[in-house]
Amino acid sequence: MRIPRHLAIIMDGNGRWAEQRSLPRIAGHHRGVETVQAVVEECRTLGVKYLTLYAFSSENWGRPDEEVSALMELLSRYLESELDSMLSRNIRFQVIGESSRLPVGVRETLQRVIDLTSANTELVLTLALSYGSRNELVRAARAIASEVVSGRRTVEQIDDALFDEFLDTHGMPDPDLLIRTSGEMRISNFLLWQMAYTELYFSEALWPEFSSEELHVAFREFARRQRRFGLTAAQICNESENRGEDSH
Ligand code: IPE
Ligand code: IPE
Ligand code: MG
Repeated sequence: MRIPRHLAIIMDGNGRWAEQRSLPRIAGHHRGVETVQAVVEECRTLGVKYLTLYAFSSENWGRPDEEVSALMELLSRYLESELDSMLSRNIRFQVIGESSRLPVGVRETLQRVIDLTSANTELVLTLALSYGSRNELVRAARAIASEVVSGRRTVEQIDDALFDEFLDTHGMPDPDLLIRTSGEMRISNFLLWQMAYTELYFSEALWPEFSSEELHVAFREFARRQRRFGLTAAQICNESENRGEDSH
């Protein structure tokens, strides 16, 4: 079966999971971490090479202080507890987003995990933290503009490939598949540039309930889709025949 090389996930529904059980929202985030652990392991086993998880958006800074600080605390604990497992499972860890807004302690822990796992090769696990796609695009546009102003590049050199280089995701392929849980069908400012041709899959499951079975269902659906990138179905079939592949 064709497996997505890069899977991106909007992990949504922790709060509702907790509210349904009359628990505080943070209890849902705690359960959500268990789903993260299971999904990372399943993706690694299935041969996904890049897994990008939307963990905290630029807009999530507007949530009540109590929830934001509990999430930061949970993040630090998750990183501390997962470091050994990332090392033994050959997982490289990285982050995208405006990390300068994160508390200094969290930043230090993140940097330590990034450095210690930097030589790993099996799976690239990326957390989107304090991430918003518009913010990322604005930061890229500013950085490119300063290169032009300083004379290091010309306006004519600005193209898709150059833009890619200035995004937080530089060096990564675009996501092949996006999964969003909790039944919401929106992108919520995630990877707008990178998802130009990503296949979208929406699951009704709340993130704490999202299971390996559900992941397999999403992958089977992905494998059935024909990605045409603006070409005709016949062109795609010819191309894949020439490469000796099954076009679906
Ligand atoms: C997703 O779950 C996790 C974060 C955004 C941090 P939510 O907290 O958005 O859960 P719901 O959408 O309120 O159920
Ligand atoms: C998107 O979920 C962000 C993360 C999963 C981190 P939200 O719950 O913040 O998105 P909206 O507000 O429903 O669009
Ligand atoms: Mg939500």
